Formats: sequence, C-alpha cells, structure tokens
Amino acid sequence: MKIKKGEEVTLKIETLAFEGKAIARMEGLVVFVNDAVPGDTVRAAITKVKSQYLEARNLELLEPSGLRVEPRCRYVGSCGGCKMQHIDYTAQLSFKHRHVIDSFERIGKIKDVDIPLPVGADDIFFYRNKMEFSFSDQRWLTTAEIESGQEYDKSFALGLHVPGRYDKVIDIGECWLQSGESNRILDSIRRSAKELDIKPYTTHSHDGFLRFLVIRQSRAAGEIMVNIVTSDNRPDIMQPIIKRLHNDVPEVTTIINNVNRRKAQVAVGDEEIVFYGEGYITEGIGRFTFRISAISFFQTNTGQAEKLYSIAKEFGDLSDDDIVLDLYSGTGTITIYLSDSAKLVYGVESVEDAVKDAKENARLNGVDNVRFVQGDVLEKLNKRDAWLEHDPTVLYLDPPRSGIHPKAIREIINLRVPKIVYVSCNPATQARDIAALTEHGYRIDRMQPVDMFPHTYHIENVARLTLRDASARSAG
Ligand SMILES: C[S@@+](CC[C@H](N)C(=O)[O-])C[C@H]1O[C@@H](n2cnc3c(N)ncnc32)[C@H](O)[C@@H]1O
Repeated sequence: MKIKKGEEVTLKIETLAFEGKAIARMEGLVVFVNDAVPGDTVRAAITKVKSQYLEARNLELLEPSGLRVEPRCRYVGSCGGCKMQHIDYTAQLSFKHRHVIDSFERIGKIKDVDIPLPVGADDIFFYRNKMEFSFSDQRWLTTAEIESGQEYDKSFALGLHVPGRYDKVIDIGECWLQSGESNRILDSIRRSAKELDIKPYTTHSHDGFLRFLVIRQSRAAGEIMVNIVTSDNRPDIMQPIIKRLHNDVPEVTTIINNVNRRKAQVAVGDEEIVFYGEGYITEGIGRFTFRISAISFFQTNTGQAEKLYSIAKEFGDLSDDDIVLDLYSGTGTITIYLSDSAKLVYGVESVEDAVKDAKENARLNGVDNVRFVQGDVLEKLNKRDAWLEHDPTVLYLDPPRSGIHPKAIREIINLRVPKIVYVSCNPATQARDIAALTEHGYRIDRMQPVDMFPHTYHIENVARLTLRDASARSAG
C-alpha cells in the first residue's frame, strides 16, 4: 500500500530519537512523530513521505503511555526549556542511556563497552545556578493562554523562547529550573518594566532598552547575582528598577548592568556597571571555591558538576607524581579540582577572560601547582616545547559540543599519554573522537554518563581510555 501525505493513521510510539522526535513504525518504515511519548497510541497525520522514513503530526492522544507524568510547569509543550518534563525521570535517564550507547555503536563503531546508566540528579527541579531570560516585544501566547479567552498585552514578554522561534518569547510567570527567589526577581523586574513603561529591545528597529535578565545563584554561599542586559547605559532608567528589586527580593547580593549596544543578541555587554554588591558570586566545588562574574563560564548544575568532577577525578586515578594536562580548561574548575591529587596540572584554554578567571581562582584557593596557558589547543600542542616542561602522564579533555578538531586529535595521539579522561557534553562527537583514538592503541576501559540537565535531552559522558599498545603507530 502506498502511504500518502495527509493520510491519517493510528500509531503506537516505540521509542524516542535524540532531540525528542518520537518513533513509530509503519509498513517497515520509521515514522517520526512530534510531541509523543514511547507507549502512547496516537492518531496522526502523515506530513512527509520519503523512501527511508515518514514524518507525522500528532493529532490526538488515543491512549497515554504509562511513562507520562503530570508536568509541574504550565508551559511544558510551548517552552523550549524542559522538553521531557512530562516523562517519568527514570524513563528520561533510560532514553539518555540509549542515546550514549547508540552514539558509540553507530558513530564510534564501538560495541563491547559497558556503559552504566547515567548518574541521576538528586534535585530534578530548581537545579540550575544560572538562568538567562529574554525580553521581547513579541509575546508568544501558549495554547492555554489563547483558550482562556483573556486579553494579553502582546508587546511585552520576559521569559523563555519558543523552540526554533528566536523572536518569540513566552512570558514566564514561574520557572521550575532555578529557585523561588529567581521567580520573585522575574516578577519584580516585569512589574517595574510594565509600570514604568520601559520597552524591550528589538533587533528589527534597534529600539528599546531591556534585552536580557541573567540570574546566577550560588548554592555554597547563598549569593544571588542579577545582571540586567540593556542596549544603553542609562542609570536614570535602571535606578527605579533596582530600588524595587531591593525591596522585593532582599536576598539578591549583587546587581549588575551589562550594556550591549551591538545588534547581536548576546547577554554579554561591552560595558559592565556594578550597581550593587561585589559584581560576582562565589560557588564551591569540593573543597575549592570559585569566583563567578557575569561573563564567566561555570557548570550550570552545581550538585551534578560535583558528581561529574568526582567521577572524572576517580577515573584519572591520580597520584602525587602525576603530570596532568587539562585541555579546554575554561575557568580552570577541573584543573584546580585535580590539583590536590597531582604533582602539576596544566590547563589550556583559548578564551583570554576564562584564563584570567582561572588564574584568579587558583590564587584565591592558594593553589600553586597549576599552570594556565592561553591559546588554541591545536596550536599549543604543535608548539608544546615552548611551555610543556614535563611529559603528561594523564590527559583530561573537556571540549565544546563540536568535539575535538581532527588535527588536534592527531597531536593528542602523538603525545602517547598513558591515560586519557574525556568529559563530554555531546556523546556523538565524543564517540567520533574516541574512535580515532582507539585506532591508535587506546582502549576504553570505563564510562559513566551523568545527567546534568533533567527534563532536557542533554547528557554528559565521562570516558577513560588507556594506552594498551604504546608501540601502536602514531598519527604521523
Ligand atoms: C565544555 S567547556 C570546558 C569547561 C571547563 N572544563 C570547566 O569546567 O570550566 C569547553 C572550553 O573549551 C574552550 N575551547 C573551545 N575551543 C577551543 C580550542 N580550539 N582551543 C582551546 N580552548 C577551546 C571554550 O572556550 C570552553 O571554555
């Protein structure tokens, strides 16, 4: 039977593909269905017919899956933040587990490795230490808001984006990702903006003032930073917002204004004005403390970062004689965290400000056995004689989502470091990179995924590789 576009069919959802498309099967073909959960039976309309697969739009949930749970958040389904909040947490972990296994099997062609279930989060709500909310003059109404029949001012929103719509923002009343204080901050600033008629910035006309609201909160010190990103430096407009915020949320410890006059929609300014407090917060991981400024990178789930780093340290099995090389070291969190178990730790990072933060963090913690080198990993490995005084015995890798450049992989292979611990936020690129390492004498001997972001599709994975065959050919 030939399936036609527009045809309505009944589908039983079998599993989830990464990034959320649900998968059913029909006449030997895979069908990708939006907004469905494995175990659901849905009525769907075929929207795309290809020789290898079909796509279908979910029209009606006929029988819900046993994996469905009642989401806490009223914006689930519209907001891009928590795409899996309506799925039981244990099932979320099992989908993420499957994704790691599939990445290694399909991309890395690596089958015989034991990959345990991801380490789950103790807190699946209010786990983020950083939230970035956007101001917009184009409010997106959720289905519930439209169906309520109420009138809404669509020219103002402060909240989170609709997936794939970078111009449209859902006006978020409360978000379950950060904290109760964070929600009170949202409320206070929204009221100021509306009552004082302060307009959101719009890229179309380059008009308006308010761009982003970034809230950072430290678990260890209980400090809260509010960073309001605006299109201009106007203390006269800022002062009443800040005064009200003080009254509404006295727990806020520092208030900053980043001024971004450029068209690029980024929450980092060319100018930074500290209106109140120190201009930074302090967070703790293990016995170390880290100073986090408005623009510093820091893992956004402190509790899970602690578990991730502790697994990474355990995998390194470090001793006082070890010389560690930490590539893609960011603000030096891993570098410093490993410093008390090794002789010397080198960190290599391309972003100058991150290296500055890393050095400052080492100084604050009285750590003197770390060396930070600023520059591109490939370039620095090419010219390692200039700065690497000892042969590394353990190599740590924590690259961005895109993974490691193939030329940098070759340099890494040529280093012949006996042990590699690879921390990744993208199992697909990790599997690709590790496949290259396994062709040159390395073998994976441990893996551990860690769930840093409940309700999202993201999964972090730590892998340990050992050089089994030091005589295996180098990468040339
Ligand atoms: C996932 S973060 C690692 C963060 C760090 N391990 C930490 O915990 O703070 C990846 C880092 O790699 C840096 N980076 C990306 N490409 C790079 C390159 N080619 N050379 C050096 N650093 C790079 C980024 O600036 C970022 O800080």
